[in-house]
Amino acid sequence: MIIAVDGPAASGKGTLASGLAKHYGLPYLDTGLLYRAVGRAVEQYENSPEFEQRAIAAAQTLDENDLEPEFLLSAKVGTLASKVAVIGAVRHALFDYQRQFATQDGGAVLDGRDIGTVIAPEADAKLFIQADSKARMERRARQLEARGQEVDRYALYHQIEERDARDMANPNGGFYKAADAHLLDTTLLDIEAALRAAIAIVDGAMASK
Ligand code: DC
Repeated sequence: MIIAVDGPAASGKGTLASGLAKHYGLPYLDTGLLYRAVGRAVEQYENSPEFEQRAIAAAQTLDENDLEPEFLLSAKVGTLASKVAVIGAVRHALFDYQRQFATQDGGAVLDGRDIGTVIAPEADAKLFIQADSKARMERRARQLEARGQEVDRYALYHQIEERDARDMANPNGGFYKAADAHLLDTTLLDIEAALRAAIAIVDGAMASK
């Protein structure tokens, strides 16, 4: 069983995807971490003409030890991730790893932007998670604060909006709701309620197979 969970920044897709993985006993991959690891690797080249080439090289040589969430979850790295994610050759370099993870024996849960459209279009259940920008900003702010970081909510709101705009406009992205994806809006749901709704969607998708 392959479960694809897509959605914008801080929509709650990571929490839901890992909750689903636990519920169904499946391995879980947060594909945003791949883009974040590449973004972090080229931070020093952000404004250099070499940015693109460096990002491609970093994507081609990425290894699992680079996927340490502790260093990758800052807003700064999120912005870098969305910049490297625009580069077609970066997406291409990261494809095989994601595809293999998705198609491993027994199945998997993946979350990202293009799982249901590009990485695993044949997924058995697809969710597209949504939440309004203010709710997403507040959740991300609390996450960062819980890790001891200071948060400027105004700046964070704009960062999230800017990142969404870049991700949505990504010509190489495949970032849209697949026709057969189920929309789940988590704006008014707490984690438990959102997870119950996600499980109901997946069970429904499996039952109708
Ligand atoms: O899910 P996230 O916020 O950790 O993702 C960070 C960035 O990586 C996001 O702004 C866009 C990019 N990304 C992508 O283009 N495709 C994916 N499957 C996952 C992330």
